[in-house]
Amino acid sequence: MKVYSAEFLTGAVSAKQYPKVSHPEFAFAGQSNVGKSSLLKSLLNRKKLVRTSSTPGKTQEINFFEINEKLIFTDLPGYGFARVPASVQRKWQSMIEQYVLKRKSLTALIFIVDLRRDPTQLDLELKHWLDANAIRYILVATKSDKLSAGERSKQVRKIKQAFCTEEDSDKLVVYSSKNNLGRKELWSQITKLANQQNALTNAEENQER
Ligand code: GTP
Ligand code: MG
Repeated sequence: MKVYSAEFLTGAVSAKQYPKVSHPEFAFAGQSNVGKSSLLKSLLNRKKLVRTSSTPGKTQEINFFEINEKLIFTDLPGYGFARVPASVQRKWQSMIEQYVLKRKSLTALIFIVDLRRDPTQLDLELKHWLDANAIRYILVATKSDKLSAGERSKQVRKIKQAFCTEEDSDKLVVYSSKNNLGRKELWSQITKLANQQNALTNAEENQER
């Protein structure tokens, strides 16, 4: 299996700290402890990533990584961590909102939910907000290894019901960071969107010339 290089670029809390990049960018978002950092490590086939904390709710910055000099992945702070006071929650929320709405290089969000859980209020709020703002996302339901095959298909049905329309029901990627289930599928969706973004950027550059 290919091991990807992941160079830590910077951590940012506000727009002026975002790094200048020219690659398609993908942001990993989801509830606290859902498995964002594990998913990143599984995708990159790396045991460690600098800057991924082991304490839930501790990632309070947007961490930017350059992947194989081709892509940017950002690890967003998880939302809905119970032990974080409401004032801090609000600060995180505005930080993430600002990033998602303003970041020009953002190609898509990797929206991660827990396959074992029914969609939470916070997940649904994020979905509606993304839809309302026309932000593209790839939906990933992770920790699938923790369920039996029967439970898995039951949960897949529920999540699709909450998140997908009939036309886009194939967009849900069922994942496990433990046994890398769904890895190939997720890479193929990421690569497809990255290629589209690159083609768009090239076309714009040609027009400017
Ligand atoms: P925060 O950054 O703190 O919000 O957490 P996170 O979303 O980055 O979650 P993290 O990747 O740290 O995973 C949380 C816990 O779930 C860890 O104990 C992981 O080992 C476990 N975990 C994550 N993904 C999987 C998975 O696919 N399968 C199994 N069995 N465990 C997982
Ligand atoms: Mg994390």
